[in-house]
Amino acid sequence: MQPRPRSCVVEFVIATCGNYGRAMAMACGAIGMPCTVVLPTGWSDGGTFMRAAGANVHLIDGSYEDAVDESRRLATLDGAIDGNVDGPYVDAVFTGHGTVAHALHAELDEPPAALWIPVGNGTTVIAVHKALSQLGWDVPLHGVGSAGNNPLVTSWPGPYRMLDPDGVTTTDHNQPLVNWHALQGPEALDAIRASGGAVHAATDDELLTARHLLAEYGAQPTAAPASLPTPAPTLLFARARTTGADERVFLCKLGVLALITGAGPPSPCVRSR
Ligand SMILES: Cc1ncc(COP(=O)(O)O)c(C=O)c1O
Repeated sequence: MQPRPRSCVVEFVIATCGNYGRAMAMACGAIGMPCTVVLPTGWSDGGTFMRAAGANVHLIDGSYEDAVDESRRLATLDGAIDGNVDGPYVDAVFTGHGTVAHALHAELDEPPAALWIPVGNGTTVIAVHKALSQLGWDVPLHGVGSAGNNPLVTSWPGPYRMLDPDGVTTTDHNQPLVNWHALQGPEALDAIRASGGAVHAATDDELLTARHLLAEYGAQPTAAPASLPTPAPTLLFARARTTGADERVFLCKLGVLALITGAGPPSPCVRSR
């Protein structure tokens, strides 16, 4: 499907578990483009932030995948376009999500030994892999998803297999890392495999431990459940701590970067060389 000429576009329609919707609401607001965000009822902050940013928030009963279905239906209406991460503007989405790799390249003298990235649909990890390849940096990418609640996690290291829609459990802590069908699952697995990295499962306890550990480093990926924490890549911190290692030493030895996502104060990366 080809993107529509912009002059015909009157509205972007997307589905979100919270944060993509926030970003799109702000971006559309900045260029004066109407935006409809489909959000499962009870998720994120219920749409408060997106409404304040000027988006029309459409709440639905069901899962993130149900929100995706509804957004695709709305996107077929006249003048609307599908702005989902795997929609006709996927290349623009990858370019946008990949900017963090360019920022790291500008900041660091040499590639990190590894990069840990939270995974939901897998969009970010694919985008970062593409950007790193363009930059000529060979960096193992480690994806972290919710244990048992994301097909990237449950499929690894095998081929992509979606989960039973009733088989996943969403909590206040794991929401962005949960889905029964990762929209870009197969491509994300390929990207992680090609990079020489792996996929890792994070339990809620590990996510919470990681959050506390990050706070000691001045990184605040989350404040309250409504802001949807995702300190998932810092699972590494938690692992270091639970195995009795000093995580600072552990990280220094590895030269690892953790990409922290979430709605807290700006603290995009924890870096240790
Ligand atoms: C805070 C946060 N972390 C991680 C993810 C997962 O990213 P991706 O779907 O690109 O794998 C999301 C997705 O919306 C998110 O909101």
